[in-house]
Amino acid sequence: MDKFVIEGGLKLEGEVAISGSKNAALPVLAASLLASDESMIENVPKLDDIHTLCQLFQKLGVKIVEDQGVMILDTRNITSVEATYDIVRKMRASVLVLGPLLARFGKARVSLPGGCAIGARPIDMHLTGLEQMGAKITLEHGYVDAVAPAGGLVGARIVFDIPSVGATENLMMAACLAQGTTLLENAAREPEIEELAQALNSMGARVSGAGSSMIQIDGVSNLRGMHHRVGPDRIETGTFIAVAAATKSSLSLKDIRIGHLDAVIDHFQKAGCEFKVEGANLLVQAPERLKSVDISTAPYPGFPTDMQAQFMACMCIANGTSHIEEHIWENRFMHTLELMRMGADISMHGNLAVVRGVPKLSGAPVMATDLRASASLIIAALAAEGVSEILRIYHLDRGYVALEKKLAQLGARVRREKQEVL
Ligand code: EPZ
Repeated sequence: MDKFVIEGGLKLEGEVAISGSKNAALPVLAASLLASDESMIENVPKLDDIHTLCQLFQKLGVKIVEDQGVMILDTRNITSVEATYDIVRKMRASVLVLGPLLARFGKARVSLPGGCAIGARPIDMHLTGLEQMGAKITLEHGYVDAVAPAGGLVGARIVFDIPSVGATENLMMAACLAQGTTLLENAAREPEIEELAQALNSMGARVSGAGSSMIQIDGVSNLRGMHHRVGPDRIETGTFIAVAAATKSSLSLKDIRIGHLDAVIDHFQKAGCEFKVEGANLLVQAPERLKSVDISTAPYPGFPTDMQAQFMACMCIANGTSHIEEHIWENRFMHTLELMRMGADISMHGNLAVVRGVPKLSGAPVMATDLRASASLIIAALAAEGVSEILRIYHLDRGYVALEKKLAQLGARVRREKQEVL
């Protein structure tokens, strides 16, 4: 088990290359299961979550060759349609194989994901949608057993209670091989949904409206392999904006998709940061002291829940009081207790955190609890006076590629060390 040791209080500078998007790569990899072919996917980020999904794929019979971020998947000889608990419990996104396996093979058996640090994380909308497409779903012994009708899944009009990213992705993939047309209403609008639709259409699917709340999929009889390049990770981009903001730095973020970050940039501009676009690069210049700004997380294009913890770290040292509301996950405030150990002044009121800015945080040993909480504690440690230790950094490795190397290249004093098991 590793930890980060960070000496804070330093200004950073330089250029950072943003890696491929974890939350785009995971559904795109799952989509490759829809075809009996080879797929080539470029710019796949080297992350633990990607490695976990590849482990699952190999158990299904997928042959994978990976070299420098280019992945070739041979999905012609699938030997199993079962995603077992040992893998699914590690990563909720494994449930994204349910739609593709059911659509292509007429059956699938996937372990229920169970909860995780940030909440219960049910998949009821995934299952209800598949039932509307004719699937027979039974839940027993912690598994979902899904069987399609003899003639295959049938297109349906599915209206989501809430715009679930995973449910939109799973049902979009399942609908590609269904008979007839499927309409997804109140669908998630995240950029990762648009990217998945691009990948599916490159396989011969007929998906339209992705990125809006109404997506139409006209089923086809089969699909070919894809050749897709994963786009840059918008949450990693936002995380580095937060790094610049918290350390009074000026950074250049390379090869990003500016349009995917409007809400994040808008809130950091209100906090006093200045931005300049140079080609595909984004320059961010932080003020000497941030102003406090309120946020309320919401489905895209609102302020992303995956940036809430990082923004909170910045507000801990802002001038004034900020109100941070979390509306997506029921337990995504675990970073607050650790930030308070570093001197942050935060009071909790259900899904509202009231953050009173203090002039300085002080370095301390803190514990990571989930992926974005880890990023939040790193940001706070970079801003804090003195040395911090961030334990259980394996949470970070799920979603950030070589973060300590990227930070060190910007002048941060951060190193990864073995952690005595606590
Ligand atoms: C995706 O998770 C992301 N993960 C999450 O990012 C992100 O926080 C989330 O979308 C919201 O933007 C990936 O893309 C791999 P949801 P997902 O289904 O699909 C409830 C990160 O840090 N819900 O949109 O699991 C659910 O409980 C991760 O990179 C149901 O009730 O999220 C939650 O409250 C964390 N029933 C809300 O909807 C369902 O059937 C949003 O969940 C499905 C979801």
